[in-house]
This record gives sequence, structure tokens and C-alpha cells, in this order.
Amino acid sequence: MKAVRGTTDIMPPKSDIIRNIEESVAFAARKYDFKEIRTPTFEYTELFDRSVGETTDVVQKEMYTFNDGGGRSVTLKPEGTAGAVRAFIERGAFNEPFPAKYYYIAPCFRYEKPQAGRLREFYQFGVEVFGAPDPSADAEIISLGKSIFDDFNLGESVQLEINSIGCPSCRKNYQNALKEYFLSKQDDLCSTCKERLNKNPMRILDCKVPVCREIASGAPKTLDFICSSCGENFEKTKRYLDASNIKYIVNTSTVRGLDYYTGTVFEFVAGSLGAQNTVLGGGRYDGLVKELGGPDTPACGFALGIERLELLLRNENKLPNKEDGIVLYLAPVDEEARLYASKLANDLRKEEIACAYDIAGRSFKSQMKYANKINVPFIAVIGEDEIKSGVIKLKRMSDGREFETEIANIAGALDELHFDMDFSNPME
Ligand code: HAM
Repeated sequence: MKAVRGTTDIMPPKSDIIRNIEESVAFAARKYDFKEIRTPTFEYTELFDRSVGETTDVVQKEMYTFNDGGGRSVTLKPEGTAGAVRAFIERGAFNEPFPAKYYYIAPCFRYEKPQAGRLREFYQFGVEVFGAPDPSADAEIISLGKSIFDDFNLGESVQLEINSIGCPSCRKNYQNALKEYFLSKQDDLCSTCKERLNKNPMRILDCKVPVCREIASGAPKTLDFICSSCGENFEKTKRYLDASNIKYIVNTSTVRGLDYYTGTVFEFVAGSLGAQNTVLGGGRYDGLVKELGGPDTPACGFALGIERLELLLRNENKLPNKEDGIVLYLAPVDEEARLYASKLANDLRKEEIACAYDIAGRSFKSQMKYANKINVPFIAVIGEDEIKSGVIKLKRMSDGREFETEIANIAGALDELHFDMDFSNPME
């Protein structure tokens, strides 16, 4: 049997790297005062129709939708914002002090053509801010995104691109201009885009079909149509970015692929990733909470693709090299010693020492071979003498030196040899 196309298994040692990335981004979010939320992996399909938008590629072509046992149409979430907004409304979180700031790391599902950096099940780290209309909120989440790339030493590898796509009132003029432009080229558009022309011409701008992309490159730009209020918000956001020395370029082609955005939008793009070069994308979506039945609440957020970040780190040779592993391997010489080792290992784990003993029932010789293979920093042989005397030798595998210590003080001895374990800050 094979895994479903476009899905992946994260096996060791890659799982150490992915966990390290996830811990780092979550740590960064908490530094910015975001609290974790977890929402279901599937939602009623209409949630995505109404938020992501019926004319988007995601809803039209990419959702995993099926009827549940009760005949209700449900969908594996293609992104995290819709569920976060639904939860914010349903759980009455709008009654809590504003702004409400959430983060999540969750699997998302899109039926897209798999390629490097594009999977059918992938993980998003996302943040959402509710109740903060000020452009400083847009700059704050951009700053969080930037800090994550900086933490991984990727500051020079990604480019921040910003744009404003306007609010519903200025969007009307823009949609009219777009319609006029695309009408003159409609014969060449793909069949989906021909349909979009009447319903939502803006979605033609992110169609992935090459001829549509070519035509879209000459289309009118949102920035020429935005109202004074959207313009002012965009300028203020830039001022906040300047104040924190966050470099950006204005890319008038950045329109994002989802319908709920209003005003300022942004992406962090990595040239070295090729076709799937957007590592992080987001923006303001002031109308969505109300649209989904909640009180009128401004909001903004972003999501970052965990696999794309991992790919970027790999390409740039900057993968975090913090592989977790045991510090000490206990090698019992016989059955009696194995029994002793099982208790000793458990006692050491209580003292935060990551360790293991032979549970495969190997001969002493093959235990030694195994210890060499797994790259463990220290081993200790356990036999009758050690058990009787309460003293063992910690053998340092890098140079073969032995350090005698009382069994009761193994943790202290390892600590002195600088093998204390600190799980608190993943970036240190
Ligand atoms: P999005 O741009 O559709 O935005 O996705 C965000 C990120 O998810 C992308 O930049 C990319 O890194 C990753 N991603 C998307 N599709 C795939 C895929 N098929 N395989 C691997 N990675 C992928 C959103 O989803 C919005 N909810 C972001 C947001 C939050 N806006 C406001 N709040």
C-alpha cells in the first residue's frame, strides 16, 4: 500500500526538524501575546463557500468535500481562517476584551497538483487578530512573520511584498475596470475564468492557467482604484513597517487567492522556492466576522506553510540542527542487570535525563555495535560489580574516556559534563 498522492509521512529525523520549526513559530506567536486555538479538521462545507468564496480556485477545484453519515456536506479544512472566525463567533469570544489574538498549527487539505512545496495535506501555522482596526495591527502581524524568518536566519532569503486590494466600496469601481479589461480578452480565458468574468473578475487575477496569467499581468491595478480611507490605512501600515525597519516592496499584483480580504494584503516570497514561492500570506479581512453572522469586527491575519518553510531552510542549508536524542545508553550484561537497568532508566528520566537501555534482548557485543550506530554521547555498562558497588563508568563515545560516578549521581555527573537538557526555548 502507498500513501495517498500529495500526502507525506514525517519520519525521524525529519520529525525532529518539523517539531523544532513548530515549537519556534509557536514560541514567536506567544512572544507577541497570541493564544493558541484548536478548531475541528472538518467543517460544514457552506462555511468555506461563504468565506473563502465560491469563485475561488480553492472552493471550485480543491476542496475535499463529502457527505457525512447524516447526509450533511462537510469539508476538510483547506485553510484555517474560516474555522477560526466561526469559532470566534460561536464561542462568544467577541465578549472578551479586544483585541483577541489567536494562533494555530493545523493540517489543511487542498486537491492541488502535487509538486515541491505543494501537498494535498499540509500544515499551516496561522495567526488571527480580531477587534484591532488600526494599521498598527497589520504591521504587528507582519512584524511577527518577519521575526520568524529572522529567527531562522532567513531574513535575506525572503522578500516582503505588500499591496492594498481595497474595501467593498472601492472594490466596485475596480471590479468594473477589471471586467471591461477582461471582456476584451474573454475568448482566450479558460472556461472557469469566463464564468468568473461575470461573478468575480478579481479571481481571474490568481488563476493558475498560463494564458490567464499572461492576460492578468496587463490588468488594471487595485492601488489605482482604492478609496482615501484604504489609501490612508495602507500608508500608515507602511509607516509602522518603516519605524521597525522592516523592508518591503509594493507589489501591485499581490491580490491573494481568497475572497475575504479587504484593504492591506501581504506575502513573504522566497525566490529560491521556484513556482511555489509564497511561504507566508495574509491580510485584513474586516467584513468576514459580520458576513458569517457575528458582530461587525475588524480582523487581520496570516498563515505560513510549515512544509514550505522546511523546504526553504533545506534549500538555504539552514535547517536547525537540534536533533533530539538520548544522552546515555545503559548496556546490561545479563538478565539480572537488564532488570536493574529498567528501574535505573526510569529514575534517570524522572531527573530529565533522556536515556535508554537494551530492550531488544541483544547480546552484550551487539549492544555495543548498536550504541556505536545510534551516535549516543555516553554509554554505561551494568553488571554485577556495578550493582553491588553502586558505582558505574560513564564512557564518552567521542574519545573513549571514562568517568566514574556513583549511580545515585549520574544526573549530576552528566550535568557537569554539559549534557543537561533544556527544552524551554526551542531557539536557544
Ligand atoms: P494561503 O495563501 O492560501 O492563505 O495559504 C497560506 C500558506 O499556506 C501559503 O503561503 C503556503 O505557504 C501554504 N500553502 C497553501 N497551499 C499549500 C499546499 N497545497 N501545500 C503546501 N503549502 C501550502 C490562507 O490560507 C489564509 N487563511 C491566510 C490568512 C490567515 N489570511 C488571514 N488570516
